[in-house]
Amino acid sequence: MLKSAPPKRGGALLVLGLETSCDETAAAVVEDGRRVLSDVVSSQAAFFSRYGGVVPELAGRNHAARILPVVRESLRLAGIVYGDLGGVAATYGPGLTGALLVGLNFGKALAAGLGVPFVGVNHLAAHLQAPLLGEDPPEPPFVGLLVSGGHTALYEVGPGEPGQDGLLRFRLLGETLDDAAGEAYDKVGRLLGIPYPAGAALDELARSFSGEAEPFTRPLPEGLDFSFSGLKTAAARRVAELEGEGRLEERRSAVAAGFQAAVVETLAEKALAACRKILLKKLVVGGGVAANRGLRELLSRRAAEEGIAVRFAPLEYAMDNAAMVAARGYFLLAAGTTSPPELEASACLELGAGDGR
Ligand SMILES: Nc1ncnc2c1ncn2[C@@H]1O[C@H](COP(=O)(O)OP(=O)(O)OP(=O)(O)O)[C@@H](O)[C@H]1O
Ligand SMILES: [Mg+2]
Repeated sequence: MLKSAPPKRGGALLVLGLETSCDETAAAVVEDGRRVLSDVVSSQAAFFSRYGGVVPELAGRNHAARILPVVRESLRLAGIVYGDLGGVAATYGPGLTGALLVGLNFGKALAAGLGVPFVGVNHLAAHLQAPLLGEDPPEPPFVGLLVSGGHTALYEVGPGEPGQDGLLRFRLLGETLDDAAGEAYDKVGRLLGIPYPAGAALDELARSFSGEAEPFTRPLPEGLDFSFSGLKTAAARRVAELEGEGRLEERRSAVAAGFQAAVVETLAEKALAACRKILLKKLVVGGGVAANRGLRELLSRRAAEEGIAVRFAPLEYAMDNAAMVAARGYFLLAAGTTSPPELEASACLELGAGDGR
Protein backbone atom coordinates (compact mmCIF):
# COMPACT_ATOMS: atom_id res chain seq x y z
CA MET A 1 0.00 0.00 0.00
CA LEU A 2 1.14 3.53 -0.71
CA LYS A 3 1.77 5.72 2.33
CA SER A 4 0.15 8.65 0.53
CA ALA A 5 -1.51 9.37 -2.81
CA PRO A 6 0.90 9.43 -5.77
CA PRO A 7 2.43 12.76 -6.83
CA LYS A 8 0.45 14.95 -9.21
CA ARG A 9 1.82 16.99 -12.11
CA GLY A 10 0.40 20.45 -12.57
CA GLY A 11 -2.31 19.56 -10.05
CA ALA A 12 -3.59 16.61 -12.12
CA LEU A 13 -2.71 12.92 -12.00
CA LEU A 14 -2.21 11.28 -15.38
CA VAL A 15 -2.66 7.52 -15.41
CA LEU A 16 -1.71 5.29 -18.34
CA GLY A 17 -4.21 2.43 -18.70
CA LEU A 18 -3.40 -0.82 -20.53
CA GLU A 19 -5.91 -3.42 -21.72
CA THR A 20 -4.98 -6.78 -23.28
CA SER A 21 -7.48 -9.24 -21.76
CA CYS A 22 -8.86 -10.57 -25.06
CA ASP A 23 -8.31 -9.38 -28.62
CA GLU A 24 -8.00 -5.60 -28.22
CA THR A 25 -4.57 -4.09 -27.54
CA ALA A 26 -5.41 -0.77 -25.92
CA ALA A 27 -3.67 2.11 -24.14
CA ALA A 28 -5.16 5.35 -22.84
CA VAL A 29 -4.15 8.38 -20.82
CA VAL A 30 -6.78 9.65 -18.40
CA GLU A 31 -6.54 12.70 -16.15
CA ASP A 32 -7.90 12.42 -12.62
CA GLY A 33 -9.99 9.39 -13.53
CA ARG A 34 -12.46 11.39 -15.61
CA ARG A 35 -10.92 13.27 -18.54
CA VAL A 36 -9.76 11.03 -21.39
CA LEU A 37 -6.69 12.60 -23.05
CA SER A 38 -6.16 9.71 -25.45
CA ASP A 39 -7.67 6.30 -26.12
CA VAL A 40 -6.00 3.98 -28.62
CA VAL A 41 -7.47 0.58 -29.48
CA SER A 42 -5.81 -1.81 -31.90
CA SER A 43 -8.41 -4.51 -32.50
CA GLN A 44 -7.59 -8.01 -33.69
CA ALA A 45 -11.27 -8.63 -34.54
CA ALA A 46 -10.68 -8.60 -38.31
CA PHE A 47 -7.71 -10.95 -37.85
CA PHE A 48 -9.85 -13.40 -35.83
CA SER A 49 -12.98 -13.20 -38.01
CA ARG A 50 -11.39 -15.83 -40.30
CA TYR A 51 -11.17 -18.20 -37.30
CA GLY A 52 -14.74 -17.51 -36.10
CA GLY A 53 -13.39 -16.48 -32.66
CA VAL A 54 -10.26 -15.65 -30.70
CA VAL A 55 -7.32 -18.09 -30.73
CA PRO A 56 -5.62 -17.45 -27.34
CA GLU A 57 -2.05 -18.23 -28.41
CA LEU A 58 -2.29 -15.90 -31.41
CA ALA A 59 -3.93 -13.13 -29.35
CA GLY A 60 -0.96 -13.10 -26.95
CA ARG A 61 1.52 -12.89 -29.81
CA ASN A 62 -0.42 -10.08 -31.48
CA HIS A 63 -0.54 -8.11 -28.21
CA ALA A 64 3.22 -8.50 -27.78
CA ALA A 65 3.81 -7.08 -31.26
CA ARG A 66 1.37 -4.18 -30.80
CA ILE A 67 1.69 -3.01 -27.21
CA LEU A 68 4.67 -0.65 -27.57
CA PRO A 69 3.38 1.17 -30.69
CA VAL A 70 -0.06 1.49 -29.08
CA VAL A 71 1.39 2.95 -25.86
CA ARG A 72 3.59 5.39 -27.81
CA GLU A 73 0.57 6.51 -29.82
CA SER A 74 -1.49 7.05 -26.66
CA LEU A 75 1.22 9.34 -25.23
CA ARG A 76 1.60 11.20 -28.53
CA LEU A 77 -2.15 11.83 -28.80
CA ALA A 78 -2.30 12.96 -25.18
CA GLY A 79 0.58 15.35 -25.89
CA ILE A 80 2.67 14.04 -23.02
CA VAL A 81 5.95 12.17 -22.42
CA TYR A 82 6.56 9.15 -20.18
CA GLY A 83 7.83 11.42 -17.39
CA ASP A 84 4.42 13.11 -17.14
CA LEU A 85 2.73 9.89 -15.99
CA GLY A 86 1.84 9.68 -12.31
CA GLY A 87 0.81 6.01 -12.40
CA VAL A 88 0.22 2.96 -14.57
CA ALA A 89 -2.81 0.61 -14.46
CA ALA A 90 -3.26 -2.64 -16.39
CA THR A 91 -6.00 -5.24 -16.59
CA TYR A 92 -4.88 -8.39 -14.74
CA GLY A 93 -8.10 -10.44 -15.10
CA PRO A 94 -10.42 -11.94 -16.08
CA GLY A 95 -9.41 -12.92 -19.61
CA LEU A 96 -6.98 -15.07 -21.57
CA THR A 97 -3.86 -15.65 -19.50
CA GLY A 98 -1.38 -15.30 -22.37
CA ALA A 99 -3.10 -12.09 -23.47
CA LEU A 100 -3.38 -10.59 -19.96
CA LEU A 101 0.32 -11.24 -19.28
CA VAL A 102 1.39 -8.90 -22.07
CA GLY A 103 -0.31 -5.74 -20.74
CA LEU A 104 0.25 -6.67 -17.11
CA ASN A 105 3.98 -7.23 -17.43
CA PHE A 106 4.46 -4.28 -19.74
CA GLY A 107 2.67 -2.07 -17.19
CA LYS A 108 4.62 -3.39 -14.21
CA ALA A 109 7.96 -2.92 -15.99
CA LEU A 110 7.08 0.53 -17.26
CA ALA A 111 5.96 1.72 -13.82
CA ALA A 112 9.12 0.30 -12.20
CA GLY A 113 11.31 2.01 -14.81
CA LEU A 114 9.52 5.35 -14.32
CA GLY A 115 9.41 5.04 -10.54
CA VAL A 116 5.62 5.54 -10.44
CA PRO A 117 3.00 3.34 -8.75
CA PHE A 118 1.37 0.44 -10.56
CA VAL A 119 -2.04 -1.10 -9.96
CA GLY A 120 -3.74 -4.15 -11.50
CA VAL A 121 -7.36 -3.56 -12.52
CA ASN A 122 -10.29 -5.97 -12.63
CA HIS A 123 -11.60 -5.79 -16.22
CA LEU A 124 -15.22 -6.12 -15.07
CA ALA A 125 -14.87 -3.22 -12.62
CA ALA A 126 -13.43 -1.22 -15.51
CA HIS A 127 -16.47 -2.00 -17.71
CA LEU A 128 -18.72 -0.58 -14.97
CA GLN A 129 -16.42 2.44 -14.56
CA ALA A 130 -16.84 3.27 -18.27
CA PRO A 131 -20.36 4.79 -17.93
CA LEU A 132 -18.87 7.29 -15.47
CA LEU A 133 -16.41 8.71 -18.01
CA GLY A 134 -17.52 12.14 -19.09
CA GLU A 135 -19.60 14.95 -17.67
CA ASP A 136 -21.83 14.69 -14.58
CA PRO A 137 -21.25 11.05 -13.67
CA PRO A 138 -23.92 9.54 -11.40
CA GLU A 139 -22.92 9.10 -7.77
CA PRO A 140 -23.11 5.62 -6.25
CA PRO A 141 -25.06 3.78 -4.97
CA PHE A 142 -26.60 2.47 -8.19
CA VAL A 143 -27.37 -0.81 -9.93
CA GLY A 144 -24.73 -1.87 -12.45
CA LEU A 145 -25.66 -4.02 -15.46
CA LEU A 146 -22.58 -5.61 -17.02
CA VAL A 147 -23.29 -7.03 -20.50
CA SER A 148 -20.25 -8.13 -22.45
CA GLY A 149 -18.82 -10.95 -24.53
CA GLY A 150 -18.03 -13.11 -21.52
CA HIS A 151 -20.31 -11.78 -18.77
CA THR A 152 -23.89 -10.81 -18.05
CA ALA A 153 -24.52 -9.81 -14.45
CA LEU A 154 -26.19 -7.32 -12.13
CA TYR A 155 -24.39 -5.66 -9.20
CA GLU A 156 -25.21 -3.32 -6.40
CA VAL A 157 -22.53 -0.66 -6.82
CA GLY A 158 -21.64 1.36 -3.77
CA PRO A 159 -19.15 4.07 -2.86
CA GLY A 160 -15.72 3.37 -1.35
CA GLU A 161 -14.82 3.81 2.32
CA PRO A 162 -14.24 7.35 3.64
CA GLY A 163 -11.09 8.67 1.94
CA GLN A 164 -11.70 6.53 -1.16
CA ASP A 165 -13.56 9.12 -3.22
CA GLY A 166 -14.83 7.81 -6.53
CA LEU A 167 -13.83 4.21 -5.83
CA LEU A 168 -16.70 1.87 -6.72
CA ARG A 169 -17.43 -1.31 -4.75
CA PHE A 170 -19.49 -4.21 -6.05
CA ARG A 171 -21.93 -6.81 -4.71
CA LEU A 172 -23.27 -9.47 -7.08
CA LEU A 173 -27.07 -9.58 -7.39
CA GLY A 174 -27.52 -12.04 -10.25
CA GLU A 175 -25.67 -13.42 -13.28
CA THR A 176 -26.06 -15.63 -16.30
CA LEU A 177 -26.44 -19.31 -15.59
CA ASP A 178 -24.92 -20.21 -18.98
CA ASP A 179 -24.00 -18.00 -21.97
CA ALA A 180 -23.28 -14.28 -21.79
CA ALA A 181 -25.46 -11.98 -23.91
CA GLY A 182 -22.54 -10.98 -26.18
CA GLU A 183 -21.58 -14.62 -26.66
CA ALA A 184 -25.19 -15.38 -27.72
CA TYR A 185 -25.05 -12.47 -30.20
CA ASP A 186 -21.81 -13.84 -31.67
CA LYS A 187 -23.15 -17.39 -31.96
CA VAL A 188 -26.52 -16.43 -33.48
CA GLY A 189 -24.73 -13.95 -35.74
CA ARG A 190 -22.56 -16.77 -37.01
CA LEU A 191 -25.66 -18.80 -37.91
CA LEU A 192 -26.85 -15.82 -39.93
CA GLY A 193 -23.52 -15.54 -41.74
CA ILE A 194 -22.25 -12.48 -39.84
CA PRO A 195 -18.50 -12.52 -39.13
CA TYR A 196 -17.17 -12.44 -35.53
CA PRO A 197 -17.79 -10.32 -33.49
CA ALA A 198 -21.37 -10.23 -34.72
CA GLY A 199 -23.12 -8.01 -32.14
CA ALA A 200 -23.04 -4.64 -33.90
CA ALA A 201 -24.00 -6.04 -37.34
CA LEU A 202 -26.79 -8.19 -35.87
CA ASP A 203 -28.09 -5.09 -34.07
CA GLU A 204 -28.16 -3.23 -37.43
CA LEU A 205 -29.87 -6.14 -39.19
CA ALA A 206 -32.52 -6.34 -36.46
CA ARG A 207 -33.17 -2.61 -36.57
CA SER A 208 -33.49 -2.52 -40.35
CA PHE A 209 -36.42 -4.99 -40.13
CA SER A 210 -39.97 -3.71 -39.91
CA GLY A 211 -42.13 -6.79 -40.60
CA GLU A 212 -43.20 -9.62 -38.33
CA ALA A 213 -40.17 -10.82 -36.35
CA GLU A 214 -39.59 -14.49 -35.63
CA PRO A 215 -41.11 -15.11 -32.18
CA PHE A 216 -38.72 -16.36 -29.48
CA THR A 217 -39.60 -16.99 -25.84
CA ARG A 218 -38.01 -14.48 -23.43
CA PRO A 219 -35.63 -16.36 -21.18
CA LEU A 220 -36.58 -15.31 -17.64
CA PRO A 221 -35.08 -17.61 -14.98
CA GLU A 222 -35.78 -17.03 -11.27
CA GLY A 223 -34.75 -13.87 -9.47
CA LEU A 224 -32.06 -11.68 -11.01
CA ASP A 225 -30.26 -14.40 -12.96
CA PHE A 226 -30.09 -14.66 -16.75
CA SER A 227 -29.97 -17.54 -19.22
CA PHE A 228 -29.29 -17.24 -22.95
CA SER A 229 -28.35 -20.72 -24.09
CA GLY A 230 -31.98 -21.87 -24.63
CA LEU A 231 -32.64 -18.80 -26.77
CA LYS A 232 -29.49 -19.48 -28.77
CA THR A 233 -30.61 -23.10 -29.35
CA ALA A 234 -34.12 -21.96 -30.35
CA ALA A 235 -32.60 -19.54 -32.85
CA ALA A 236 -30.35 -22.30 -34.24
CA ARG A 237 -33.35 -24.62 -34.63
CA ARG A 238 -35.37 -21.95 -36.44
CA VAL A 239 -32.45 -21.09 -38.74
CA ALA A 240 -32.12 -24.81 -39.65
CA GLU A 241 -35.88 -25.01 -40.39
CA LEU A 242 -35.81 -21.91 -42.56
CA GLU A 243 -32.76 -23.22 -44.38
CA GLY A 244 -34.58 -26.51 -45.02
CA GLU A 245 -37.54 -24.56 -46.45
CA GLY A 246 -35.19 -22.43 -48.59
CA ARG A 247 -36.42 -19.27 -46.78
CA LEU A 248 -33.40 -18.33 -44.68
CA GLU A 249 -32.28 -15.44 -46.88
CA GLU A 250 -35.81 -13.98 -46.90
CA ARG A 251 -36.23 -14.36 -43.07
CA ARG A 252 -32.67 -13.58 -41.96
CA SER A 253 -33.45 -10.12 -40.58
CA ALA A 254 -36.72 -11.43 -39.04
CA VAL A 255 -34.64 -13.93 -37.01
CA ALA A 256 -32.23 -11.14 -36.02
CA ALA A 257 -35.12 -8.89 -34.93
CA GLY A 258 -36.82 -11.66 -32.91
CA PHE A 259 -33.56 -12.67 -31.22
CA GLN A 260 -32.65 -9.07 -30.41
CA ALA A 261 -36.12 -8.36 -28.97
CA ALA A 262 -35.88 -11.39 -26.68
CA VAL A 263 -32.39 -10.44 -25.43
CA VAL A 264 -32.99 -6.74 -24.83
CA GLU A 265 -36.38 -7.25 -23.19
CA THR A 266 -34.81 -9.76 -20.81
CA LEU A 267 -31.91 -7.43 -19.99
CA ALA A 268 -34.24 -4.48 -19.44
CA GLU A 269 -36.69 -6.45 -17.33
CA LYS A 270 -34.00 -7.89 -15.03
CA ALA A 271 -32.12 -4.61 -14.65
CA LEU A 272 -35.27 -2.75 -13.63
CA ALA A 273 -36.26 -5.61 -11.31
CA ALA A 274 -32.88 -5.19 -9.59
CA CYS A 275 -33.52 -1.46 -9.12
CA ARG A 276 -36.91 -2.22 -7.59
CA LYS A 277 -35.53 -4.95 -5.37
CA ILE A 278 -32.78 -2.89 -3.75
CA LEU A 279 -34.75 0.36 -3.92
CA LEU A 280 -32.33 2.29 -6.13
CA LYS A 281 -33.42 4.73 -8.81
CA LYS A 282 -30.10 4.79 -10.68
CA LEU A 283 -28.76 2.28 -13.19
CA VAL A 284 -25.50 2.18 -15.16
CA VAL A 285 -24.82 -0.16 -18.09
CA GLY A 286 -21.36 -1.20 -19.31
CA GLY A 287 -19.75 -3.82 -21.59
CA GLY A 288 -19.86 -4.35 -25.36
CA VAL A 289 -23.60 -5.10 -25.50
CA ALA A 290 -24.23 -1.69 -23.86
CA ALA A 291 -23.57 -0.36 -27.39
CA ASN A 292 -26.73 -2.10 -28.60
CA ARG A 293 -29.15 0.50 -29.96
CA GLY A 294 -32.20 -1.64 -29.26
CA LEU A 295 -31.18 -2.03 -25.62
CA ARG A 296 -30.38 1.67 -25.25
CA GLU A 297 -33.80 2.66 -26.59
CA LEU A 298 -35.91 0.11 -24.73
CA LEU A 299 -34.15 0.41 -21.37
CA SER A 300 -34.11 4.22 -21.50
CA ARG A 301 -37.85 4.27 -22.20
CA ARG A 302 -38.81 1.68 -19.58
CA ALA A 303 -36.51 3.24 -16.94
CA ALA A 304 -37.99 6.69 -17.54
CA GLU A 305 -41.49 5.24 -16.99
CA GLU A 306 -40.34 4.11 -13.53
CA GLY A 307 -38.44 7.31 -12.70
CA ILE A 308 -35.10 5.49 -12.90
CA ALA A 309 -32.09 7.38 -14.30
CA VAL A 310 -30.09 5.17 -16.65
CA ARG A 311 -26.56 5.90 -17.83
CA PHE A 312 -24.92 3.83 -20.57
CA ALA A 313 -21.21 3.63 -21.28
CA PRO A 314 -20.44 6.12 -24.07
CA LEU A 315 -20.33 4.13 -27.33
CA GLU A 316 -16.55 4.47 -27.63
CA TYR A 317 -16.03 3.02 -24.13
CA ALA A 318 -18.58 0.18 -24.22
CA MET A 319 -16.34 -2.44 -25.83
CA ASP A 320 -12.86 -3.20 -24.55
CA ASN A 321 -10.74 -0.07 -24.19
CA ALA A 322 -8.05 1.22 -21.88
CA ALA A 323 -9.68 4.51 -20.83
CA MET A 324 -11.95 2.57 -18.46
CA VAL A 325 -8.88 0.77 -17.07
CA ALA A 326 -6.99 4.03 -16.50
CA ALA A 327 -10.07 5.54 -14.81
CA ARG A 328 -10.53 2.59 -12.44
CA GLY A 329 -6.75 2.58 -11.85
CA TYR A 330 -6.79 6.26 -10.94
CA PHE A 331 -9.40 5.79 -8.21
CA LEU A 332 -7.51 2.80 -6.80
CA LEU A 333 -4.23 4.73 -6.75
CA ALA A 334 -5.88 7.81 -5.28
CA ALA A 335 -7.27 5.58 -2.51
CA GLY A 336 -3.70 4.43 -1.80
CA THR A 337 -3.90 0.99 -3.44
CA THR A 338 -0.97 -0.35 -5.45
CA SER A 339 -0.18 -3.86 -6.64
CA PRO A 340 2.90 -5.87 -5.71
CA PRO A 341 5.42 -6.64 -8.48
CA GLU A 342 4.54 -10.32 -8.23
CA LEU A 343 0.86 -9.74 -9.16
CA GLU A 344 -0.15 -12.54 -11.53
CA ALA A 345 -2.70 -12.67 -14.32
CA SER A 346 -6.02 -14.02 -13.02
CA ALA A 347 -8.00 -15.64 -15.87
CA CYS A 348 -11.20 -16.28 -13.84
CA LEU A 349 -11.19 -13.20 -11.61
CA GLU A 350 -14.68 -12.30 -10.37
CA LEU A 351 -16.06 -8.86 -9.68
CA GLY A 352 -16.21 -8.21 -5.96
CA ALA A 353 -13.01 -10.24 -5.49
CA GLY A 354 -11.09 -6.95 -5.53
CA ASP A 355 -8.52 -5.43 -7.83
CA GLY A 356 -4.85 -6.25 -7.98
CA ARG A 357 -3.75 -6.25 -4.35
N1 LIG B 1 -24.38 -3.23 -30.87
C1 LIG B 1 -24.16 -4.40 -30.26
N2 LIG B 1 -25.20 -5.23 -29.95
C2 LIG B 1 -25.00 -6.40 -29.31
N3 LIG B 1 -23.79 -6.87 -29.00
C3 LIG B 1 -22.73 -6.11 -29.28
C4 LIG B 1 -22.85 -4.85 -29.92
N4 LIG B 1 -21.60 -4.34 -30.09
C5 LIG B 1 -20.74 -5.24 -29.57
N5 LIG B 1 -21.41 -6.31 -29.09
C6 LIG B 1 -20.87 -7.54 -28.49
O1 LIG B 1 -20.06 -7.17 -27.36
C7 LIG B 1 -19.09 -8.20 -27.16
C8 LIG B 1 -17.75 -7.56 -26.92
O2 LIG B 1 -17.84 -6.80 -25.74
P1 LIG B 1 -16.64 -6.70 -24.74
O3 LIG B 1 -15.46 -6.20 -25.49
O4 LIG B 1 -17.09 -5.91 -23.59
O5 LIG B 1 -16.51 -8.23 -24.34
P2 LIG B 1 -15.25 -9.08 -23.93
O6 LIG B 1 -14.19 -8.16 -23.44
O7 LIG B 1 -14.95 -10.00 -25.05
O8 LIG B 1 -15.81 -9.93 -22.72
P3 LIG B 1 -15.62 -9.64 -21.14
O9 LIG B 1 -15.59 -8.17 -20.96
O10 LIG B 1 -16.80 -10.28 -20.54
O11 LIG B 1 -14.33 -10.29 -20.78
C9 LIG B 1 -19.10 -9.10 -28.38
O12 LIG B 1 -19.76 -10.29 -28.03
C10 LIG B 1 -19.91 -8.28 -29.39
O13 LIG B 1 -20.62 -9.07 -30.34
MG1 LIG C 1 -14.55 -6.74 -22.04
